[in-house]
Amino acid sequence: MHLNDLVLFHPPYTAPNLPKIAELVTEDLRKRYYDFIWEPSNRATFAREDIDRRITLDPLPIPDESARDRYFAGRDVEYWVSGLTDALMATEWVKVHKGDPPIERYLDFGCSSGRVVRHFLCQDFARLCHGTDLNTGTIQWAQKNIPAGIFLNNTIVPHLPFPDAYFDLITAYSVFTHIDLLEEAWLLELRRVLRPGGTIALSNHSEGVWSSIDADHFMYEDLKNSQCTENIEITPEVFSSEMPHPRFGFVRKDGVANEVNMFRSRNHIREAWGRIFAVEDIIERGHLFHDLIFMSHPEH
Ligand SMILES: C[S@@+](CC[C@H](N)C(=O)[O-])C[C@H]1O[C@@H](n2cnc3c(N)ncnc32)[C@H](O)[C@@H]1O
Repeated sequence: MHLNDLVLFHPPYTAPNLPKIAELVTEDLRKRYYDFIWEPSNRATFAREDIDRRITLDPLPIPDESARDRYFAGRDVEYWVSGLTDALMATEWVKVHKGDPPIERYLDFGCSSGRVVRHFLCQDFARLCHGTDLNTGTIQWAQKNIPAGIFLNNTIVPHLPFPDAYFDLITAYSVFTHIDLLEEAWLLELRRVLRPGGTIALSNHSEGVWSSIDADHFMYEDLKNSQCTENIEITPEVFSSEMPHPRFGFVRKDGVANEVNMFRSRNHIREAWGRIFAVEDIIERGHLFHDLIFMSHPEH
């Protein structure tokens, strides 16, 4: 793929009368989100009373499906809870492993319309909450609907408009899973804006994800309709064998930027990403079905 092929501009999203989470949570749905929370993959610890309290703290509208990058189509409550789960997972990890420092500045890189940033703000997990994304449409949605957050478009070329050592915590959920070009340059740019000792959590399609795919998996058709960077033919059986390369991607034949699906083995992450950050923890299914990789800035 050529840099010029990447799609940078998207039309703004307009969706009037968007609901708030408190209006969506009926008794019926309560059961669904409790089931969702208690799934083993959602390891963040919730107390039932706590989640009811957290709902009352969030007055923000829920984006409609066109503005949330395929997250939980038709399932607004799970959409909201998934963002809270991710936010809790990251903040709990920092508490447990870094001695509960205050999070002054937080960045969600590739934030879409603020699925996770909204919780950092509403639940008061960080003081200044930032989100950046390539997609102008979802960033405009976030700027309009989450006014307390700082939302910016970033470019394809790895550069972020923040000073060195600025953030205490950076997350990127399902973003590096779609970055094939300039991956190391992006990691270096994120390291530049992370403070020494700060934490970064990135999600990855690892061998755990690879082996969970079958013909019914929602990614199956996408992968089948893509061009693989290695010589891998997609059949239902291919996923029962070991992941065939340490790093490879599937590029959609229509060549749209975010339709690249990358796979990286855990060893590859430890070696390649470990040259840039200190890899601390790889949590299987730490973000939905992805691995979540916790890393620290190498300087303390
Ligand atoms: C699958 S969506 C995930 C959205 C969001 N992180 C979430 O968890 O709801 C992938 C996001 O990554 C963004 N993205 C992909 N490449 C990017 C890049 N180089 N810089 C910033 N954002 C990028 C896309 O625009 C899209 O919003």
